[in-house]
Amino acid sequence: MSTIRKKLISYDELHNLDSKGLTVIVEEMQLTIFVVKKDKQIFVYENSCPHTQGPLDWVPDNFLDGNQKFIMCANHGALFQINDGLCVYGPCKSQSLRALPFEIENGEVYLLV
Ligand code: FES
Repeated sequence: MSTIRKKLISYDELHNLDSKGLTVIVEEMQLTIFVVKKDKQIFVYENSCPHTQGPLDWVPDNFLDGNQKFIMCANHGALFQINDGLCVYGPCKSQSLRALPFEIENGEVYLLV
């Protein structure tokens, strides 16, 4: 099966510790995802909490906790490490967000599916 590339955002669109939610259509399937930038690195996760499989954000594009140290699920307060999506606090502790493959080319971030 061939890989599909979907442009998500420009690398410079996000500042350090910014996050952004996006909906991507891939072969007629809707994928809700979010992108986080931390220390010049980009992370892309499916917007689905391991606890209930619901979205993490109540406020659009707001996926981090108050200290901007963790990704936070707004539903029941689970905290996830930004760099690997591992839940370190909350009802889904030890489970992980689903990291999605991506690449950066010419300043653009592309999802690989
Ligand atoms: S839905 Fe995310 S912590 Fe409950």
